[in-house]
Amino acid sequence: MFGKIVSWIDDRIPMTRVWNMHIAQYPAPKNFNFWYFFGSLAMLVLVNQILTGIWLTMNFVPSSEGAFASVEYIMRDVEYGWLLRYLHSTGASAFFIVVYMHMFRGMIYGSYQKPRELLWLFGMFIFLALMAEAFMGYLLPWGQMSFWGAQVIISLFGAIPVIGDDLTLWIRGDYVISGATLNRFFALHVIALPLVIVILVFLHIVALHEVGSNNPDGVEIKRKKGTVAEEDKSKFKFHEYYTDKKDIVDAIPFHPYYTVKDIVGVVGFLILFCWVVFFMPAMNGFFLEAPNFEAANPLKTPEHIFPVWYFTPFYAILRAIPDKLIGVAAMGASIVVLALLPWIDRGRVKSVRYRCGFHKWNIAGFVVTFVLLGWVGATPQTDMKTIISQICTVTYFMFFVLLFIYSKNEKTKPLPERLTK
Ligand code: HEM
Repeated sequence: MFGKIVSWIDDRIPMTRVWNMHIAQYPAPKNFNFWYFFGSLAMLVLVNQILTGIWLTMNFVPSSEGAFASVEYIMRDVEYGWLLRYLHSTGASAFFIVVYMHMFRGMIYGSYQKPRELLWLFGMFIFLALMAEAFMGYLLPWGQMSFWGAQVIISLFGAIPVIGDDLTLWIRGDYVISGATLNRFFALHVIALPLVIVILVFLHIVALHEVGSNNPDGVEIKRKKGTVAEEDKSKFKFHEYYTDKKDIVDAIPFHPYYTVKDIVGVVGFLILFCWVVFFMPAMNGFFLEAPNFEAANPLKTPEHIFPVWYFTPFYAILRAIPDKLIGVAAMGASIVVLALLPWIDRGRVKSVRYRCGFHKWNIAGFVVTFVLLGWVGATPQTDMKTIISQICTVTYFMFFVLLFIYSKNEKTKPLPERLTK
């Protein structure tokens, strides 16, 4: 009966073929490691955000009079409303942790290099959409930090010459942040941006499956000549689907090998995630900031205004520069430069494993810079911290400048013939 239903569907849409080509029989390099957990985890968090978001919307009131009270109502009176809200607020931070790890993996293994430039660009568009999504979501509970954080960020657009003032007015839909702003942010947060993100993730996967996955060795599996051992042929059916890739060696079918491996990642992630959700959902003010437990008050500015932690590295670059316009430009450039990585890195070897010693130091320096920027951006400014943020702004951009210079004639280690482990 089941078989009959499947073949009835298969005669009408290519369900089994798509399933086999893109999941069950997708030829994945055999050496995926810890860093390859984060793609599937990003998908898991995306689904969590969409589902909990739908249920939160059922009781949320998108008006300046009702928003804060409706969130309190969800927390206190709606059955499991507190759980839905904490899954969603913790999910937002988890999304950025997972995506930052995912991007870092791309950096260390050179996954942005040819032929994966477009895959990386789709990733960068996802990252931009994700930042917009998180920023707009943060206004919705209409707490003090929602209001004043949005005030600071939207006013940045005012620094743009000529169109700045009109642009801020257009974004707010009012002369000040008001119910009109809340309404449009709600519309964008619950439908427009999630739709964009889902479409971009689809294109991201299409691009990945067109060129195939990179791996920790940065050696293309498709290019290798050789055949799958006779005894393995019955296990690996992907030749049926990938006729042009008959010579794939060092590949294993995604199912069951990586479905099982990803389940390990999911379980590990859920243990940490649930621990935060149930025991410290505010995460010492990092995931839910203290001023946001107070309703928005346009007449009372909080003592310190910070964005949520995932924006603070970029926010620190903005604050490091006294001139507002240059600060905004530097902050924008710090994101754009990431998108340009495929063209900044002129190296022929992808993985950090086989690149020169200086590359390893350069990447380590970038990580330290990013963390320091995140820290100074999340804490009250002092003279010392201003200097740290200025030094880090320079070292942030230096990473890319140095990479551009040394990658051209880099001395690399010999690449292995076959994948190692
Ligand atoms: C909603 C956010 C995202 C989702 C759901 C997502 C999903 C995935 C999945 C499932 C994979 C294949 C599995 C893996 O390699 O881990 C992947 C690969 C990849 N993603 Fe993403 N991704 C997201 C965001 C990003 C971002 C922001 C970037 C970078 C700007 C990016 C860059 C890449 C690259 C370069 C690969 C190929 C890696 C390789 O083959 O070594 N992704 N993504």
